[in-house]
Amino acid sequence: MAKDELYTGFWVDFYDKLFPAYIYPKTFKIIHKLIKKHNPNAKNVLELACGTGRYVEQFAKAGFIVKGIDSSQDVLKKAKKRIKKAKFELKDMQNIKEKSESYDVVVCLFESFRYIKNYLNCEKVMNNVWKALKPKGLFIVDFGHWPPTKETKIHNKVKMNGLTIVKDEIIRTKGIYDTRFDMVKIYKKGKIETKEIKRSPLLRISKNKMKEMLLKTKFKILEIIVSFRGHPQSMLFVAQKKGK
Ligand SMILES: C[S@@+](CC[C@H](N)C(=O)[O-])C[C@H]1O[C@@H](n2cnc3c(N)ncnc32)[C@H](O)[C@@H]1O
Repeated sequence: MAKDELYTGFWVDFYDKLFPAYIYPKTFKIIHKLIKKHNPNAKNVLELACGTGRYVEQFAKAGFIVKGIDSSQDVLKKAKKRIKKAKFELKDMQNIKEKSESYDVVVCLFESFRYIKNYLNCEKVMNNVWKALKPKGLFIVDFGHWPPTKETKIHNKVKMNGLTIVKDEIIRTKGIYDTRFDMVKIYKKGKIETKEIKRSPLLRISKNKMKEMLLKTKFKILEIIVSFRGHPQSMLFVAQKKGK
């Protein structure tokens, strides 16, 4: 699958600006409560596709021992600067091979699970997560699912390093994917530069599809929090490792 340019080079800081900092403690609070409820002695956490480490930071602040993996070297560089006491590894989450029964919680947050290539790979990831979890360990994943679209437009504006950057995104559903076409206009001292940011398609995962895949990989679904990110299409699944 094509590399997503938003998580490389200059665009890493831009990505962080697109999603304001307050989102992270706010959503982490809910996740933390769920962990305390379902696995109160949890200590070791793995985050798949951790980006610039904003959830890793929340976990570390709350006293967890946390490791983040991501397939982009550039986001990890920023994550390592942000949080010194966590471990990070450059890795495709589709190929994780963590030590068996080494984590109490594995999380994959903010649409990241939808970067997985296809449903078969989702199940492969779930099987590997299952192995990496201790008995009763939790797998927590959040994502959104919208009706198929011919064309949905999203407009964002960010001010950064003396620049104004306007991003216009077009989402089109093609089969099992939502494809994205991002055009940016960079305004600097009266000049405008126009560029495309190459984006990866996102796998469409419905609530039922997620349920089906988790059950197939022998997870027990404990809770589904609908509207996790404040809109009804967003949902957070809390699944638990039970015996195979
Ligand atoms: C929407 S960002 C979310 C980052 C982070 N979870 C957060 O909430 O800030 C998606 C992240 O997934 C990473 N990613 C995409 N495909 C991946 C893969 N196959 N393996 C590991 N990371 C991946 C990207 O590099 C990016 O950092």
